[in-house]
Amino acid sequence: MSKVNLPNIGLGTWMQKPEVAKYSTIEGIKIGYRFIDTARAYKNEKGVGEGLAEVIDSGIVKREELFVATKVFPLSVRPRAVKRAIYKSLKELNLRYIDLMYVHFPAFVFGYSHKKTLGVFSELVDEGIINHIGVSNFTIKMMEDAIESIDKPIFANQIEHHPYLQQKEQMEFLKQKGIAIISYSPLGRGKVLDDPLIKNIAEKNKISTAQVCLSWLMSKGAYPIPKASSLDHLKDNFAASEVTLPQEDILQIDKIKISQRYVHPPFVSPKEWFV
Ligand SMILES: NC(=O)c1ccc[n+]([C@@H]2O[C@H](COP(=O)([O-])OP(=O)(O)OC[C@H]3O[C@@H](n4cnc5c(N)ncnc54)[C@H](OP(=O)(O)O)[C@@H]3O)[C@@H](O)[C@H]2O)c1
Repeated sequence: MSKVNLPNIGLGTWMQKPEVAKYSTIEGIKIGYRFIDTARAYKNEKGVGEGLAEVIDSGIVKREELFVATKVFPLSVRPRAVKRAIYKSLKELNLRYIDLMYVHFPAFVFGYSHKKTLGVFSELVDEGIINHIGVSNFTIKMMEDAIESIDKPIFANQIEHHPYLQQKEQMEFLKQKGIAIISYSPLGRGKVLDDPLIKNIAEKNKISTAQVCLSWLMSKGAYPIPKASSLDHLKDNFAASEVTLPQEDILQIDKIKISQRYVHPPFVSPKEWFV
């Protein structure tokens, strides 16, 4: 990973309407979040952008203290469409540059090409529009091919990652390559929070179940981006940065045998996920 101060916890915004995304961006940044995750597909970049403008204009934070990430829609992966999509994100987010731009899914079916699509990303890095190139939902093989295809580093692979989907091989591969692991759906879309072991560990350590999941991910060197819409959830998740789980609890979670993927849209997900 190239040297950058990536905050160890980010703020997800999937399924938030623009006004909710604006609210959680503003309140999240007031709480201390500096890393915001959105996507063209979420149709809320405008809300996030309004939130960013408000906190920047009112002096709560400086643009350069923020790390804003968004993603190209799976239908916009052909070279001409990519460029248009990225400029659209820039406009909606109300920014001059985007810290991290992802390919949202390896949508080969819609014309994604490592060389051509990432080639456009690379040009936009040269133009100062994007700071870092990211991919999302890539398998190890796809990562290898992507790395070979361009002469710029791939900064991150954003993957579903939580105690029910531990991604041990990807983690090892990405760490070895120095690529950041951004953990999406880190709470298993809320479903992992009901797990009896997670509840036990939370009770024992007097922390919340969400904090157990998030601090376990951070103990692995991953960067979770939980989505939260209420002040309580925003605060609870952000406070996980201060939690260090005892080693024995980390090892217990490591032993969970469940392998459950909650996000697998048809057509664009790697076919390896379905075998
Ligand atoms: N690259 C991709 O393909 C991809 C796919 C999925 C997600 N993502 C990104 O990852 C982010 C997070 O994933 P996600 O939204 O799927 O799921 P998640 O963060 O695992 O879970 C969100 C759910 O947990 C609840 N929650 C949040 N904090 C909580 C807390 N402290 N205690 C109890 N419940 C809590 C939320 O409720 P409230 O909303 O009511 O607070 C929401 O229902 C997304 O928002 C998006 O930015 C990326």
